[in-house]
Amino acid sequence: MRGIILSGGSGTRLRPLTKITSKQLLPVYDKPMIYYPLNTLIKAGIKEILIIVAPERAGDYLNLLGSGKEFGASFTYEIQDEPRGLADAFVIGENFIDDEDVVLILGDNIIEDDVSDEIKSFKGGAKAFVKKVPDPERFGVVKFDDKGKAVQVEEKPSKWISDHALIGLYVYDHRVVDLAKGVKPSQRGELEITDLHRWYLEKGELEVSEIKGEWIDAGTMESLHRAQIFAREKMKGKMVI
Ligand code: G1P
Repeated sequence: MRGIILSGGSGTRLRPLTKITSKQLLPVYDKPMIYYPLNTLIKAGIKEILIIVAPERAGDYLNLLGSGKEFGASFTYEIQDEPRGLADAFVIGENFIDDEDVVLILGDNIIEDDVSDEIKSFKGGAKAFVKKVPDPERFGVVKFDDKGKAVQVEEKPSKWISDHALIGLYVYDHRVVDLAKGVKPSQRGELEITDLHRWYLEKGELEVSEIKGEWIDAGTMESLHRAQIFAREKMKGKMVI
């Protein structure tokens, strides 16, 4: 199993802070933001990790994280020239993924739960994770039927279909590379990860699991502020790095 942390983008919503460095390197209490998703992967025993970064910040990542040795892991870096969407991670990561299963985690997502067992028990297809939120229009969402089976996946629906937001953690088998290469850019010009989910859903191979603990996408000033407090109160004992 390989891991990818997607940590590109220009962080426009967090200016002027992101004029200093990448959003995912900003402090979240006593650690740079990316330590939290990195912790999720390392805890799950994933040692080969690809970190995808924006070109102008690549040096900051190398300075901070280096080869990965310090974390008992091996880091590879790739540049994403422009934010082209989450599914682009699998196009960029093609050689790195090879024929392995892969976990993608977003560099600005902080997950309280230990998802190691969920990752280790992966047996093919796709696995996504959801959490109930008050503002589902900001996220990809999954609709379930009465039996709790996922029946629909939509990216940022303008009309309400579900409160279950897809968090920034996904597991796929190696087929995801060819799939991602075939995805057409959406109206916002991005390769949407929900298109990948839809493909697996239609084949009956998408598993969706609801996480119990807290989840924060720290991409806005408001959520970054919440993340600081949450990290101080809840994450300290959960970090292995
Ligand atoms: C992305 C995904 C969305 C997901 C979210 C989680 O949104 O497209 O499905 O719910 O991450 O953080 P974005 O951050 O690109 O708006």
